[in-house]
Amino acid sequence: MEPVIPDLRDVSRADAYAQLLDMQRLLLDDSTDAIAGMATLSALLHHAFGHLWTGFYRVVTPGALLRVGPYQGSLGCQEILFGRGVCGTAAAEQRTVVVPDVHAFPGHIACDARSKSEIVVPVFDATGALMAVLDIDSPVHDAFGDADVDGLERLVAWFARTT
Ligand code: SME
Repeated sequence: MEPVIPDLRDVSRADAYAQLLDMQRLLLDDSTDAIAGMATLSALLHHAFGHLWTGFYRVVTPGALLRVGPYQGSLGCQEILFGRGVCGTAAAEQRTVVVPDVHAFPGHIACDARSKSEIVVPVFDATGALMAVLDIDSPVHDAFGDADVDGLERLVAWFARTT
C-alpha cells in the first residue's frame, strides 16, 4: 500500500510543505524519472491542498512551446506558447509568477472558469535548463503567498536530478 496523502488545508503552509517534502523524499528518493516525479508531485499537492488544477507543462521546444504533462484536476489546455498566459510568462522569464486575481492578469488562459488565483514555478533539470513549469490553479482568490513560493521551489528542486 502507498501512504495516504494527508489533508493539509488547516496546517500552516510551512508545516504543510515540510510534510510534503518528507513524502516526496520517501516516494522518490530512488528515482530520477521526470514523469514519475511530475505525476507523484501533482497528486501530493492536489490532494493535500484541494486545489482546482495541479500539474506540469513540459518544454517541448526550448524558448517556444510548452505541452501539458502529468496533472490532476479538470482538463488543461494542450499547448501554451512561451510568453502567453501565466505559464508562458513564467517559462519565458524563468521565474515564479504569483497571480492573486487571474482576471487582472493580461493574457491569462482560462482552462477552467472556476479558477481565481494561480502560481507557476519554473522547473530546471540537472544541466540547469528549463524543462517544465509547475502550474497550480485555485478556486480561491489570493490563495498563494511567500510560503507557497518557498515550499514549491523546494519541491521542484527534486527535478535537478533528472536529465
Ligand atoms: N491558466 C494558465 C493555463 C493553464 S491552465 O490553467 C491548466 C495560464 O494562464 O497559463
